Amino acid sequence: MSNFGIFPFSAPCGAEVMGIDFRKPITKDMVKTLNSAFVRYSVLVVRDQKLNPRQMLAAVSHFGSTFEQQNKRFSIPECPEIHYISNQERYPDGTRYIPGAGFHTDHSNDLLPPKATVLLAIRLPDHGGDTQFVNMHAAYDGLTSELKRRIANLHAVHVYQSTHSERKLMDLSKDNPRYVPKSSVHPLVRVHPETGKKSLYINPIRIHSIMGMSDPEGIELLNDLLKHATQTKYQYRHQWQPYDLVLWDNRCLLHKANGDYDHNQERFLYRVMLKGDKPV
Ligand SMILES: [Fe+2]
Repeated sequence: MSNFGIFPFSAPCGAEVMGIDFRKPITKDMVKTLNSAFVRYSVLVVRDQKLNPRQMLAAVSHFGSTFEQQNKRFSIPECPEIHYISNQERYPDGTRYIPGAGFHTDHSNDLLPPKATVLLAIRLPDHGGDTQFVNMHAAYDGLTSELKRRIANLHAVHVYQSTHSERKLMDLSKDNPRYVPKSSVHPLVRVHPETGKKSLYINPIRIHSIMGMSDPEGIELLNDLLKHATQTKYQYRHQWQPYDLVLWDNRCLLHKANGDYDHNQERFLYRVMLKGDKPV
């Protein structure tokens, strides 16, 4: 494999991996480099990976083991560990479902939320549909000492869908075989198990309340933290190309997809998640 290397973006997170084709065998040294880069840059972008579902799973297996995703209605029949993300789905009332809109971190209602999410772009609109990532280490570091002290020992209750969420999730599939946790409690500030760095762990889609606070007080605090964290200076914005493979670290990032494209054009990606630890 020639010219293999990691090239960081001039952004608060993210790097491009060059000189790799996941359809071919890769060496142990490359796997080590990729995993270090994943922890260091939090978002890895690998362009032009024309992988079928099995090849995608093989590529992702270099970073960890597959996490079982919650809503089975999106699993692809030939490979159920992979779910699809598509703008062609509709809510029961007929309105279009735009997946991923609004900043969030994936499946945080799980006791052990996924450490990483991986997307492979299959079909994209001509313009728009970028994914924005927020570096939550940097956002935490940018808080005032007073606010850091205030949130140091707070815990939030994460549910499948918060009643405070501005985005409506698709109902779980009726034949959903997996137990989907009703709620899990996680700290508002978590320590990354591999870097030891602190980051904000908030999720406007799934946090129902903050323990020890009234709902309005808790939601006001969350909104203030979200407004601070999502400043442009903490973000990397990914513009998709077909067959981009993008892998990110849910332990220290928020992300959102933009619905700012022609919805008559298809936006279809494969998604895999990797098992993670209990946030502490
Ligand atoms: Fe997501």
